[in-house]
Amino acid sequence: MEVKVAKSAGFCFGVERAMQKVYAQIEENADKKIYTFGPIIHNDEVVKELEEKGVTVLHSIEELEKVPKGILIIRSHGVAKDIYDRMEKAGFTCIDATCPFVKRIHNIVRKESSEGKKIVIVGNAGHPEVEGIRGWCETQSDIIESEEEALQYQNADDREICIVSQTTFNYNKFKDIVEIFQKKGYDINVVNTICNATEERQTEAREIAAEVDAMIVIGGTHSSNTRKLYEICKQECENTHFIQTLDDLHLELPKSVRLVGITAGASTPNNIIEEVQNYVRINF
Ligand code: F3S
Repeated sequence: MEVKVAKSAGFCFGVERAMQKVYAQIEENADKKIYTFGPIIHNDEVVKELEEKGVTVLHSIEELEKVPKGILIIRSHGVAKDIYDRMEKAGFTCIDATCPFVKRIHNIVRKESSEGKKIVIVGNAGHPEVEGIRGWCETQSDIIESEEEALQYQNADDREICIVSQTTFNYNKFKDIVEIFQKKGYDINVVNTICNATEERQTEAREIAAEVDAMIVIGGTHSSNTRKLYEICKQECENTHFIQTLDDLHLELPKSVRLVGITAGASTPNNIIEEVQNYVRINF
């Protein structure tokens, strides 16, 4: 089978950087307890492998009280300011692997909110990155997930609004939401904080999906950026499959299929992409 693998598939810069920080800690501090605050990436395989190397995942700030002190790695999504402060207060050595692009958003919302602007975060409520961004706003912030929510939004006190976005948000949806705010005549300052890695991955996925007969999207089932990739590919190619590892791949391809496309979310390690690619190349 002919296979076309997206160049942008797999770990992005921020995830790669966070992973390297974890591996560096495993090497340098083998005698210490090492934790990550939440799974370092949305990939069960990788998290399992790290667990075997002694890295424990903590899921809540309350857990900090119950475990021996050690090194605590903040993942690329970042955390709210008060969470960061509490970690340090609890006596952990924090290694901040927040992606610099996410850190940039923290700095923007902190500055803009301290100057009196209202912050609107375009993103998925409840996503750790969005919660983290929210936690750097010095005043109240609002989260907008959809055009419907944007239409309903009321800027009651007519304050100036600073709009930022979750790094992994769909660019077209972001544009549509911003347009609604513009039409409402609000005084807005828009900072497009969508990460290029996501945009590039989405554009490339769309292009490949439009060209191939079947498409495979690899990524964790909890990874929102992978789910978005899947949605995009499905729009272009009905025969799109979402898998986490090669084991999930139960493809039955009709004879007419000549070209299979592969892309993967930001938390998919290269070896899994390779495995899937080789399998499809050889077995179909
Ligand atoms: Fe950072 Fe962009 Fe990845 S924000 S974590 S490089 S998707």
